[in-house]
Amino acid sequence: MAPKCGVAPITEAQLGGGRSPERGRCTVPFIAVGEHSERFSEKTFWGPDFDALRREDPEIAGVVIDELERLRGGLQLIASENLTSPAVLAALGSTLSNKYAEGYPGRRYYGGCQVVDVAEEIGNARTKELFGAEHANLQPHSGASANLAAYAAFAQPGDTVLAMDLKQGGHLTHGSKVNFSGQWFRPVSYTVREDNELIDYDQVRDLAREHQPKIVIAGATAYPRLIDFKAFREIADEVGAILMVDAAHFIGLVAGKAIPSPVPYADVVTATTHKVLRGPRGGMILCRAEHAKAIDKAVFPFSQGGPLMHAVAAKAVAMREAAQPAYQAYAAQVVANARALAKGLEAEGMRAVSGGTDTHLALIDLRPVDVTGGQAESRCDAARITLNKNAIPYDPAPPMKPSGVRVGSPSVTTQGMVDADMAEVATLLARAVKAEQGTLAGDAELAAVADAVSALVARAPAYPRG
Ligand SMILES: Cc1ncc(COP(=O)(O)O)c(C=O)c1O
Repeated sequence: MAPKCGVAPITEAQLGGGRSPERGRCTVPFIAVGEHSERFSEKTFWGPDFDALRREDPEIAGVVIDELERLRGGLQLIASENLTSPAVLAALGSTLSNKYAEGYPGRRYYGGCQVVDVAEEIGNARTKELFGAEHANLQPHSGASANLAAYAAFAQPGDTVLAMDLKQGGHLTHGSKVNFSGQWFRPVSYTVREDNELIDYDQVRDLAREHQPKIVIAGATAYPRLIDFKAFREIADEVGAILMVDAAHFIGLVAGKAIPSPVPYADVVTATTHKVLRGPRGGMILCRAEHAKAIDKAVFPFSQGGPLMHAVAAKAVAMREAAQPAYQAYAAQVVANARALAKGLEAEGMRAVSGGTDTHLALIDLRPVDVTGGQAESRCDAARITLNKNAIPYDPAPPMKPSGVRVGSPSVTTQGMVDADMAEVATLLARAVKAEQGTLAGDAELAAVADAVSALVARAPAYPRG
């Protein structure tokens, strides 16, 4: 009887080994479906099938299409988002999602892991090679999970952690009172200098000497400039602290060699895989070999159960993509586009925090045009430009009504946009920001900008049709 899933019955000849070309050896034999050519055919793959979704669940199918149309129809300027490739999406939508694989390759708590082991081993090898890291762990479900594991590996509840002030660009997991980091640890925050809005390394050193932190964290969620990892290393060494670099935002720029790497300096690097890196939503950790055991134990079993093996495989795909020369060109263009966008917005009367950017994002102070971050976010939304309101350093406005917005170039660069397009994006964004929503003239202007955005993205579409 033919199996229900429609996969052809398995013959003796089709019993094969899980062969990993990168490992060059066979794993425990498993039941392979078809010979190589057939194995890679559409008939054999059992994965994303939109017709099945549409038949089974038209409501959710509609949501999926609506979101695709939203991506296609507007400008995505959220600095922490990107547009993953079809290959990453195929791995994500695969049957690897079914597998329980608590543990690590070759040391699992479940049977039948010989196939997913290959995905994780390939992913780890690619990640280590891409970043020149001694150890990689691709299991964290998210950036926050990666950070939880890094804290767990190196600190005990009550220990002091020195990290960037949330109000100035630090992340929730860097000591917020509503997060584990602020509830279970003793956070001490460093800031940027008021005069140039750059990290104040003298202050970081002074605070480290005074508070003797167990962990010093470098990395942020809204800091547009390069971070001096060597300076952080020296400070951590002086007080005997672990240097943790939270590279969630910029790890993709490191992969593409567009900015310097923290790997030679940090004891541990945590990151997300879905921002500039353009992989699936998830987290990862890189560390020195001496910390490998502690990190692996802190991920599983300390803070997570079974890894999401479809996501691990998709991370492996993303690492392969990021190792290509085309990705290096992409990463360089991401930075060029962010710079061009910041410059364009300054030409429109706004102020780029710290005077510009070295990365994929810019923080824009809207006080010169007398608009709040919230107003700008809402007006841009109406004009099909997606961005987020954001506090600026030393923001005089309350956190829920911040004075700025954060803009990023990863998605529009994936769509193929270049510096000249950014000048147009800046003009459209400025028109939207300055349009008084709720007035006849303002709403007409927002509609006109939305039309211009549609025309712009039609020239460089996200997920092009056909
Ligand atoms: C610096 C930093 N660390 C950690 C995270 C958390 O990542 P996730 O949302 O995947 O938990 C973020 C998310 O934006 C981030 O910016």
